[in-house]
Amino acid sequence: MASISAILLCFSIVLSISHVIIPASVLEDLANLKPPADFNSTIMTNCFHNPSLRYCNSSPMDLKEIFKSTIVASHLCNVSKNPNCVESFPKIDLQSRPRIAPLYLSFSFFWKYCPLSILTIDLSNNSLTGSFPVDVLQCTQIQALDLSHNDLTGEVPQESFSPLTNLTVLNLSYNHFSEIKMSDAEFFKTFNASSFLHSGLLPDRKKFTIKALILLVGFPIFVVVMVGCFGWLCFGRPDYLPRVLRRKNMFTPQILKAATDGFSRKNLVGKSEGVDIYKGTLRDGTEVRIEIYLDDISRESKRRFVEECKVLAQLRHKNIVRVLGWCNSRRLRALVTERVESKSVEIWLSESDPPWKQRLKIVTGVVEGMCYLQEEWPEVGYDLRISSILLSEDLEPLISRFKLGDQSSSSRNIYKFGVFLLEMVVNRIPGDEFQSGEAGFIEHIRMHYPGVLREVVDQRMEMTENAYDQATQAIGLGLMCTDQTSTQQLNLGQISDMITQAYESWQVIESPPHKRPHGDRGKGHKRTQ
Ligand SMILES: *[C@@H]1O[C@H](CO)[C@@H](O)[C@H](O)[C@H]1NC(C)=O
Ligand SMILES: *[C@@H]1O[C@H](CO)[C@@H](O)[C@H](O)[C@H]1NC(C)=O
Ligand SMILES: *[C@@H]1O[C@H](CO)[C@@H](O)[C@H](O)[C@H]1NC(C)=O
Ligand SMILES: *[C@@H]1O[C@H](CO)[C@@H](O)[C@H](O)[C@H]1NC(C)=O
Ligand SMILES: *[C@@H]1O[C@H](CO)[C@@H](O)[C@H](O)[C@H]1NC(C)=O
Ligand SMILES: *[C@@H]1O[C@H](CO)[C@@H](O)[C@H](O)[C@H]1NC(C)=O
Repeated sequence: MASISAILLCFSIVLSISHVIIPASVLEDLANLKPPADFNSTIMTNCFHNPSLRYCNSSPMDLKEIFKSTIVASHLCNVSKNPNCVESFPKIDLQSRPRIAPLYLSFSFFWKYCPLSILTIDLSNNSLTGSFPVDVLQCTQIQALDLSHNDLTGEVPQESFSPLTNLTVLNLSYNHFSEIKMSDAEFFKTFNASSFLHSGLLPDRKKFTIKALILLVGFPIFVVVMVGCFGWLCFGRPDYLPRVLRRKNMFTPQILKAATDGFSRKNLVGKSEGVDIYKGTLRDGTEVRIEIYLDDISRESKRRFVEECKVLAQLRHKNIVRVLGWCNSRRLRALVTERVESKSVEIWLSESDPPWKQRLKIVTGVVEGMCYLQEEWPEVGYDLRISSILLSEDLEPLISRFKLGDQSSSSRNIYKFGVFLLEMVVNRIPGDEFQSGEAGFIEHIRMHYPGVLREVVDQRMEMTENAYDQATQAIGLGLMCTDQTSTQQLNLGQISDMITQAYESWQVIESPPHKRPHGDRGKGHKRTQ
């Protein structure tokens, strides 16, 4: 009878129940059925005959759970259309059963006591989602597992496959698993590629080819573009680079072009032999003055030009214009200095009739600048014409023209200073009305010295007695400096002492607490007539 056959067949317990009551659904059966009174003894008998049955090794034995698993097994065997569910249950066939497959998968107690007769599990084409259904792998005896055509994601638990020693057919095709790790590659090699078609596990050859193509073609292009951009930045517009990457003091033609609006005429502020002078604004807002040298020079001279620029860029003095850098390209050679919103001494003299004290202040500043250059940078030549000395807003003179490639000698500098000093007092540009130029100008003054100096001193200068005395002395000093026949020329130190003294004595005269020897009564008293 039924109960006897149940003892003989490992699986028959299932039938001993399901065949008594015909259930509406597996869920209903699970809710309603109670294990029969003799269930314990039936199982005990089964285990006695076949101790390898899964439930025999579970401890403690949960009779209710085991009973439930037999109900599920009977249903599953039936829906899997196994020909003889009393005798055998060799295959779970849930292919294309998306409505019930997830339900059976959710009965973890069933998988825990997975009947040993099952050798094949087919769960393909069920739109299963989520991670790999590990419960299924508790049926360690299976030989074939098909999970193809689902929407499974995540990693395949390779280590959970190791007890499945009899598994020979595996199909994980058409899923969305994560690509295998290199360390897992050995396991996946026991099956051939047709087990993993479009599973996401193996690197997609087509995708790989596209990636490789992108890498092979795209990367070099990317590199070329990057190098190009970087090159353009480095050699064209380094002012766009971060400050640390910029080469200090280096200007490129492109930077200068941008700063001057493409060297537009409105920025051209001066022109002299071989030099165009532009004003401009750098990207960071700095106002600059750009001297562009038009003459073509040899490679050797260009090298020297850069050497000199490097020196100029290091000059730091309140009476010397800051050299910000230079440009030395094949097309363009230029010196970039800070731009002082100012005029030259020449224009200042002709426009504003400055009093002696202010003129003396300018001369003092120029001497200070000269001393700095002589002491620190004796190799730098400079220009002292009143047209090239600039004035800052607070009337500080700025030596602004440097003689590149023109080694200065100290006696030549003293001579130039002499001329400058005379011009400051006399207010006449050398060469203006003297046929023999500078020499004629000096000679003209010398003729009037010291007797009739009133003739030559700047007529427009309002002068006190004291100022007149100093101006006279200044002419004397200027003539001494320009006297090239004299065997003993003054040195810069002596000149500096004299000028400083004169300027300081003026300060004493000016300041109220001190007594004013002549200056006071001279106020408004024109000595120039
Ligand atoms: C089942 O019966 C055995 C004796 O046959 C007994 O030792 C065991 O405790 C019983 N198990 C349960 C869960 O009733
Ligand atoms: C088995 O399936 C058939 C239909 O395929 C159904 O008529 C029968 O009731 C099922 N038996 C059990 C026990 O579920
Ligand atoms: C998958 O199942 C659907 C119905 O659910 C069916 O139309 C389709 O042919 C099946 N595909 C495969 C490959 O079995
Ligand atoms: C694999 O098959 C052999 C022979 O049928 C069997 O003895 C063994 O227990 C099976 N392995 C597993 C893990 O079930
Ligand atoms: C892959 O394995 C299947 C069955 O395991 C076989 O039918 C097929 O020929 C194999 N393919 C290759 C390329 O070896
Ligand atoms: C796995 O399933 C896919 C799609 O159904 C099929 O093309 C492939 O041959 C199968 N692979 C194996 C090893 O059965």
